[in-house]
Order: sequence, then C-alpha cells, then structure tokens
Amino acid sequence: KLYSVGVIPGDGIGPEVMEEGLKALKALEKIHGGVSFDIHSYNWNCDYYKKNGRMMPENGLDILAEHDVILLGAIGAPGVPDHISVWELILPIRRRFQQYVNMRPAKLLRGMVSPLRYKEHADLDFVIVRENTEGEYSDMGGRLHRGTPYEIAVQNNVFTRFGTERIIRYAFSLAEESGKSRIIGATKSNGINHSMPFWDEIFKEIGQRYPHMETNLYHIDALAAYFISKPETFDVVVASNLFGDILTDLGAAIVGGLGLAPSGNINPEKEYPSMFEPIHGSAPDIAGKGIANPIAQIWSISMMMDHLGHRDLGHLLLETIEDVLEEGSVRTPDIGGRATTSQLGDAIINKMIGK
Ligand code: NAI
Ligand code: MG
Repeated sequence: KLYSVGVIPGDGIGPEVMEEGLKALKALEKIHGGVSFDIHSYNWNCDYYKKNGRMMPENGLDILAEHDVILLGAIGAPGVPDHISVWELILPIRRRFQQYVNMRPAKLLRGMVSPLRYKEHADLDFVIVRENTEGEYSDMGGRLHRGTPYEIAVQNNVFTRFGTERIIRYAFSLAEESGKSRIIGATKSNGINHSMPFWDEIFKEIGQRYPHMETNLYHIDALAAYFISKPETFDVVVASNLFGDILTDLGAAIVGGLGLAPSGNINPEKEYPSMFEPIHGSAPDIAGKGIANPIAQIWSISMMMDHLGHRDLGHLLLETIEDVLEEGSVRTPDIGGRATTSQLGDAIINKMIGK
C-alpha cells in the first residue's frame, strides 16, 4: 500500500531529526515490501514567514488535506514570535483536520532510567490524552486600555459539550481497547467554577458506562505532584488543552526527557489526516550542532504506523529503539552519550534492517 505523507521539517533541530525520521520510513519500506511512502516535503517554517509574511501558503491546509498523514519536526525560531509560528501553522492544522486527540505516551523505555531514581524498576507506562482543539487555547478574548495602569487582558476558555464528550469518550475507549483499567481526569473544579465542573460532570457521565474501570478526578495541582510521587499507578490520564500540555512535558521529564517524547495529533474518525511530531520544540540552544536526539521523531513514526494500521511495523520500530538504548553505546548528549543525531538514527535503522 502506498501512503502519501506530507512532511514539514520546520525550524532549528526539526529538519535534523526529520532526516532520521525519513531514513526510518525508507527502512520500513525495505522491511515490508507491501508498504511504501510518497513523501512531499514543505518548507513552511520561520524562514518562509520572513520571506512571505505567512507561515504557509494561503491554500496550505488544502494541500495538506490531500495526504494520508502529516509528519512535523518542530516549529519556532528566534525573531518570529511563538504566537505567530505556532498559531499560524500548528494550531490551524490541528483544528482544520479535527485532530482533537493529542496522544502522548509517557513510557520508560527499556534501557532508560527515570530521573525519579527510586522508581528505576517501576513500570512507568501510561498515556496522556490531551484535548487538542478548544479549552484554554481559544482565540476569544482581548486587551483593553493598552499600556495604561488600567490595562486588562481577558482570555476565555471554551469547553463545548461536543468537544468535551468526544475527548473523554476517546480516553475511555482507548483504555478499554488496550486492556487498561485506570482513568484519571485532570480537573480544577475547586478554582475554575464553570468549565471545570462541566468537565467533571461529563467525565462522570461517560465513566458510568464503564463500571469496571477505576475512575478518578484529580485537581491539576495534586495530579502534578502524583506524577512525581506515584506515576506507576497511572494508565490513562485525560486532560484539557492547557492542563494536558503541561502534564505531557512533565510526563516526558519523568521518563528521560524531551528528546524521547513523541506525540500524535489524531483525528480518530480518519476523515482527515492525522499529524505526528515530537513533543519538543526547535531547541535553538542546540540547533545546527547535529546533536539533537532523533528518538522522539522516530517514535512518532512508530505511532504513525500504528495509526495507519501497521501495528507490527510500529512495534518493530519502538522495540528497536529500546534495543539500541539498552545496548547503550550510541546515545546523544541529552541521554548521557556523545553520539550525533545521525549516528543514533543510523544505529536504530541498521539494527532494524538487520533483524
Ligand atoms: P524545546 O523543546 O525546543 O527545548 C527545551 C530544552 O530541551 C532545550 O534545552 C533543548 O535543547 C532540549 N531538547 C529539546 N528537544 C531535544 C532533542 N530532540 N534532543 C536533545 N535535547 C532536546 O522548547 P523551548 O526552548 O521552550 O522552545 C524552543 C522553540 O520551539 C520555541 O520557538 C517554541 O515556541 C517552539 N516549540 C515548538 C513546538 C512544536 O513545534 N510543536 C513545541 C514546543 C516548543
Ligand atoms: Mg508543550
């Protein structure tokens, strides 16, 4: 089967890690004769913005709509405000293609040690399901009396029944499908008195349809602490857009860092293309040095293979990443080694082809 893949390498380390990702796609083609990828690469990034005054062409979303899936590296560069680069590229893609699930595994890979050292052997393996289209990241609001002592900034949160139900339903069905039984909803209904009680109600309504599951709503502040003190007790955590954003970086940190954390922006109905990307950004502090960790990007391709229905290939890719980490001699500096981006990418790909 031929898959059309839209690729946006982006800025900073984005293109560096994407190069390894594209090698992984080639290797998968080699391994599985029946799968191939038709790659279309787009230079939509901050340089494009500086030249054209926009992050992508006017019909950029229509172009992307033609692909089966989208792969993104990372976006963001000094000189272009993040609210432009992110708001005008990533968020429109997530919204137009109804990628309302942002799925982010927090899984301690074989060979890695969690910075929560005392949990070294604990089973750190859970998924954070973040709402990806509404909530706190709404463009409703504004500023009044700019620059005066009376200045006011208002940002509205938007929680619709449709949007809230579908993300919580997804989290429950994901747990059910993967044989997991514990679901945590992130809330703050003691402080945010309209949207969060609404979120809680819907969580409980849907939870009632799954009486065999253990469900809990935790306030976001306490939940953040539990991420450190008892992450081994989690299976699935479902959270609003902002809470999920924060929790997923925390989840990445407890399993070894941003260089190892992938994500899928998923349209579960498969009406539109889904998009896979590392959680991390363009890392201007290490860009150009060739030392970025490519694992988050390669793992995002493993998630992409799962999404396309090739779970065997997704599994093979992740298992090979773990083999290389466990073997331990080829690692980038962020995980304690001296290898370059391409050395680590090659180590994974060669090992996979050799299997
Ligand atoms: P960042 O994720 O780019 O970097 C945070 C820290 O993690 C840095 O010290 C960086 O060196 C390290 N790091 C990140 N990825 C790494 C990798 N693969 N290997 C080794 N080390 C890695 O976050 P930051 O600095 O807050 O943002 C930089 C730019 O990226 C900003 O313009 C921001 O808006 C953008 N950004 C873009 C995202 C996206 O494209 N989805 C997501 C997050 C940030
Ligand atoms: Mg984030």
